[in-house]
Amino acid sequence: MVNNRGMGELPTGTITMLFSDIEGSTLLLHDLGDRYGEALSAQRALLRSAISNCGGQEMGTEGDSFFVVFESAANAVRCCVTAQRALAAHDWPGGIAVRVRMGLHSGEPVRHEDGYIGLDVHRAARIAATAHGGQVVLSEATRMLVGSRLPGETSLRDLGFHRLKDIESPERIYQLLAAGLPDQFPPLKSAGPPVPTVGVSAGVHGFASALTSFIGRSTELSEVAELLATYRLVTVTGPGGVGKTRLVAEVSRRVGDRFADGVWLAELGGVTDPDLVPGAVAAALGIQQGGGSAMEALVAVLTAHQVLLVLDNCEHLIDAVAALSATLLSAADDVRILATSRTPVGVPGETRYRLPPLDLLEPAQQGGTGMSAAVSLFADRARQADPHFTLTSKTAETVTRLVSRLDGIPLAIELAAARVEALGVGPLLERLDDQAGLLAGSDRLAPARHQSLAATVEWSYQLLSEEDQRVFRLVSVFPGPFTLGAAEDVAGPEAGRAVLRLVDRSLIVPPREGRDGRRRYLMLETLRAFGAGRLAETGEEHAAAAALTTFALNVAEQAAAGLERTDGELAAAQWLDAEDATMQQALGWALEHDSDAAPRLAIALAPWWLLRGRWATGYQMLAAAAERTAEASQQWCETHLWCGILTAGTTVPTSLRHLTAVRDAFAERTPAPVLARALAWRSGALANLGRMPEAATDGSKALTLSRELGDAAGEAYALYWLGTEAVYQLNNEEAVAWLRQAQQIDQTAIPGYIGRHCTIILARILGEIGETAEAEQYCSEVLAAARDAGALYDQGDGLLSMALLDVNAGRLTSARKHLREVIELFGRTRANVLLLNCLELCGEMCVAIERWRDAITVWAAEAATRRATWTEGQGETESMTQEAMESDPSRRRARQELGPAQVRAAEERGAAMTPAVAAEYVLMLVSDETKEPAAEPSLPHLSSRERELVTLVAKGRTNSQIAAQLTISIPAVRSSLDRILARTGSQRRADLTRLALQADLV
Ligand SMILES: Nc1ncnc2c1ncn2[C@@H]1O[C@H](COP(=O)(O)OP(=O)(O)OP(=O)(O)O)[C@@H](O)[C@H]1O
Ligand SMILES: [Mg+2]
Repeated sequence: MVNNRGMGELPTGTITMLFSDIEGSTLLLHDLGDRYGEALSAQRALLRSAISNCGGQEMGTEGDSFFVVFESAANAVRCCVTAQRALAAHDWPGGIAVRVRMGLHSGEPVRHEDGYIGLDVHRAARIAATAHGGQVVLSEATRMLVGSRLPGETSLRDLGFHRLKDIESPERIYQLLAAGLPDQFPPLKSAGPPVPTVGVSAGVHGFASALTSFIGRSTELSEVAELLATYRLVTVTGPGGVGKTRLVAEVSRRVGDRFADGVWLAELGGVTDPDLVPGAVAAALGIQQGGGSAMEALVAVLTAHQVLLVLDNCEHLIDAVAALSATLLSAADDVRILATSRTPVGVPGETRYRLPPLDLLEPAQQGGTGMSAAVSLFADRARQADPHFTLTSKTAETVTRLVSRLDGIPLAIELAAARVEALGVGPLLERLDDQAGLLAGSDRLAPARHQSLAATVEWSYQLLSEEDQRVFRLVSVFPGPFTLGAAEDVAGPEAGRAVLRLVDRSLIVPPREGRDGRRRYLMLETLRAFGAGRLAETGEEHAAAAALTTFALNVAEQAAAGLERTDGELAAAQWLDAEDATMQQALGWALEHDSDAAPRLAIALAPWWLLRGRWATGYQMLAAAAERTAEASQQWCETHLWCGILTAGTTVPTSLRHLTAVRDAFAERTPAPVLARALAWRSGALANLGRMPEAATDGSKALTLSRELGDAAGEAYALYWLGTEAVYQLNNEEAVAWLRQAQQIDQTAIPGYIGRHCTIILARILGEIGETAEAEQYCSEVLAAARDAGALYDQGDGLLSMALLDVNAGRLTSARKHLREVIELFGRTRANVLLLNCLELCGEMCVAIERWRDAITVWAAEAATRRATWTEGQGETESMTQEAMESDPSRRRARQELGPAQVRAAEERGAAMTPAVAAEYVLMLVSDETKEPAAEPSLPHLSSRERELVTLVAKGRTNSQIAAQLTISIPAVRSSLDRILARTGSQRRADLTRLALQADLV
């Protein structure tokens, strides 16, 4: 379809490509019938006029779609704005709106015959396809080219990183906002949700795009932004509904670019158990926890990154938040925290910002802006409730009294404004004044200065019908967003309608699409607390929590069935991601009150915990649930099986203990799939402990049994471990035979992760025995599948296999690229196994290019990491014995080439590396392709004191540790580091680690 229409010489070099088409053109054709041709011609004429005015060259048109190229990115943007304005203003046949989506991307596609080819052309088309009709999106490349040359009255909104179909790395996409054109659209139609990747993506993450306008607060915004420049923990405090959450969202957008690794929101309102705070923060940052605690994972990741962490709604978890903040702030010097809470967090170094209510000042006092912020807010929200609402001089006066009666509390103002259509402004004020009586003696929500909100909430609640009151109380049991279906499950079949009415009354936030594509409703914190208070008073609390648990169990069991099959995995996992808060809450309640539901829920959630790397916390929940089951019952066996699986990669003896318990429970019983599965994993645990003969026995029992029982998943588990064990014993042929059998199983009928594991090892062995093409084929299939499923560990494992294949085929550039990606995934999963494999391979690569010293250092770092990974007595089988190492030809050669003194120095250097430093070292080794190790250290001329400082940073010391060691003050450390950062052009501590490694300081 790409055909140059002969409009002159085509541009070369960097060009900007525009793809556009009509949204829903088939439907439009259907609706317009014969008049569709007319609409199509008008659409083309309008677009062509904009294109030619802005210097675009049309490359191809097909039906309703355009492909246009521009020499200037700014002109391409101008073209989109002009065209969208013209389309919006046009009088379409039948009064039907014709909505055109547009996407821009810049790159250097290759000129070919009379058009362009290359990946960038595809990328541009994919980017455009994510947009909705009327929306203009553009890529990072285009944004950078446009720079500050955006046309007047336009701006960009960062929509985050998105996966595009068939394109490997996620793309950051921006939406073009132009005055007078719609700017609210549903989430982009990308192949997956925005990718939360701390350390990979700067920008502001986790905040839903605001559905209503933000009003006033300019002073507060600058004040908080300024405090953040000085203090590491700023807590915005104030009564419920005063606008804390909304303010920090705006502050985050404003200060976003001060943080190299972005701003991240962790919403704690829905977290009820203080122990789960670190887990909730880690999940918000997209960090998987592996076998360690969530807190350890957070510290490990955050020490290397520069982020602003926003902890919203902390009041009910103040101690846990204080502990978390204290730990993070002392361990991670580049982290700052912005918290919202009704009371301060109470840790040293915190500064408190008391957020006042909205400005009530009379217009005159405001200096002629027209109206106070509180009045503007009321007017804006009233117009939403009633499009005919206008502020006349008469109503303005009443509104001014009304908002001051509400103390300028935004939530109270919103609740009142939602009633304007039904009541009118005057009666609204009277009704509110009536509430005074209600206030007497009632301090349900908050003390003195906050009673206006209590009264407003009470008043809004009293105005509801009895049925709506009931539903309002019951849905306050949801700790986070909920679907209409969920509301109906908890509050009865009519509850859906009631929820919609509550949205109209501003008591529930309008729905937003969750990660699973379902629309969910939300209650603001203050209102949820009010509802929960009422729930307790009416005695419905227990029944509501029980109903929530039944709902959660229902979702979790359906999702678990999905996770049992590869083709159901993605949807099921995303469903649970979106219901995370509800699941936590229900499981917590069930563990206390319902000994039947608790184990069922834990078992159903286990595969998701496995996939999302929540091994340690999942294990704790399962172990607690196991205690509530009758010994040796079916549920008892299943909880122990999952306990064994979740600890298989971290604490092998624990894993073995649980799996043995399952085996023993079946001593006198008819076998069932749970036994076959337990035997398979037990075989793996035994093999990892070096007990090979016993492993073989359990492995083959598991295989026979699962085949007899027709349990495909059990069979795959057994074959996986049999294959792995053959690899341990260096018997490639046998391993291939087992794993090929695993390939014969219908892959859709087994859990995705086990299918992927089998394929990854098979690919690795095939690569080793020279079946390269097949190996590569498997590898790329598995990688794509792991990416789709969001299975980070599997992705890392797949990339490692790719790197191995690359090395075998001599494709070193590609191997380096893959290793860099593995290290990035190591950063997010903290799965040391990934790092160990990288180090091993890196050593081989150094030998291949005769970098002997680096090879020895890397291997010593590997040994150190191995010691840090496996605690004594566990899983040592994977590491090479001293003897095996001496006989390894690469290692022997490296030692000979280097000579004993240098070998010793290199070994000492590697042995001193922590896993984080080792990871940076790998990155350094695989970062540049051609250069030999830098002859000159790339640190500029630093004094010896400064070098000492950099060395300590690279060793992972915090500012306070450095201050203690060098006997200087912490502020002195900070200012020296700032100077060094500036001189080396670095932004964060991790950059200094890299420089220190290059200069051989560590
Ligand atoms: N400056 C503002 N402009 C527009 N709307 C605002 C503003 N401040 C607050 N709001 C609205 O008022 C309501 C309450 O605000 P918010 O949720 O931020 O309060 P909060 O102080 O965080 O309350 P809580 O203590 O219950 O968490 C929200 O609907 C919010 O959108
Ligand atoms: Mg809040």
